[in-house]
Amino acid sequence: MNGAFHLLPPSASDAAGRYDTLMLVEFLVTGFVALGVAFMIVYFSVRYRRDSDADRSAAPAGGRKLEIAWIAIPLLLFLCAFAWAAYDYARLYRDPPGAMPVFVVAKQWMWKLEHANGRREIDELHLPLGQPVKLVMTSQDVIHSFYVPAFRIKQDVVPGRYTTISFTPTEAGEFHLFCAEYCGTEHAAMRGRVVVMRPDQFAAWLQQGDAREGMAARGFALYRRYGCSGCHEAQSSVHAPDLHGLLGRTVHLQDGRSLVADEAYVRDSVLLPKKEVVAGYAPIMPSFAGQIAEEDLLAIIEYLRSTGGGDARAGH
Ligand code: CUA
Repeated sequence: MNGAFHLLPPSASDAAGRYDTLMLVEFLVTGFVALGVAFMIVYFSVRYRRDSDADRSAAPAGGRKLEIAWIAIPLLLFLCAFAWAAYDYARLYRDPPGAMPVFVVAKQWMWKLEHANGRREIDELHLPLGQPVKLVMTSQDVIHSFYVPAFRIKQDVVPGRYTTISFTPTEAGEFHLFCAEYCGTEHAAMRGRVVVMRPDQFAAWLQQGDAREGMAARGFALYRRYGCSGCHEAQSSVHAPDLHGLLGRTVHLQDGRSLVADEAYVRDSVLLPKKEVVAGYAPIMPSFAGQIAEEDLLAIIEYLRSTGGGDARAGH
């Protein structure tokens, strides 16, 4: 169903085929019902026009059974459509195993992207064909929306938090990237392209460009510069949680809740440390809100990921 009738953009991700099928089925079902209703309107208008000799006295046949049927059948259809769509939707936010993280920071009016090895791009995203990808996104100013029609992917990018989305590119080529949330004067110009390459070409591309250090190495330097290492070290005199292998680990909080540490949890811990205090520790962590750039925070998270431990991709 590659862009059926060319009404749809090219279908270039695993999600695209699923949505197109769902949309086609919903279109056919609703189209069939709409045609049926239109036909009945015309038919009854003619059959029961003022001068017709149609019998108007008959009591409706079927009675209660008919009423139950016309409530139950549409209800069932809607519930099926809901279950199907909800299942597909949930898959977008479940990290596929082995997903490659890519970091997106949006600002008025550009997309800043960074790969785990430190290669950066602006308004362009290079991806390897067939490799599951997980975008971890945030905004430096207002709400933007990451929209790639060929992937059938659209996700708000929100300041003050991370949003993630997962997909697998299934076609090589170049695809449009748009901002789909009105974000100011140059909103319409906030676009770019996604380039999907064969894995070997992508590996070569990833190594080109300015040789900067990987995000994890940069993150480690920042981890020390911001003083994280001063407390979060085994030999530190301050009683602070050990952060090695934190991502994917289950964390027990003071208020009795527990959660699996993901990127958003690390972000909150750094910027809003009072929100989730770890059980058994005093709430002495200072907030770094306003003191740390989004890119730096993402690099520190990559450093934490590189320290291993639990499955870093287990996610939410
Ligand atoms: Cu960014 Cu619209």
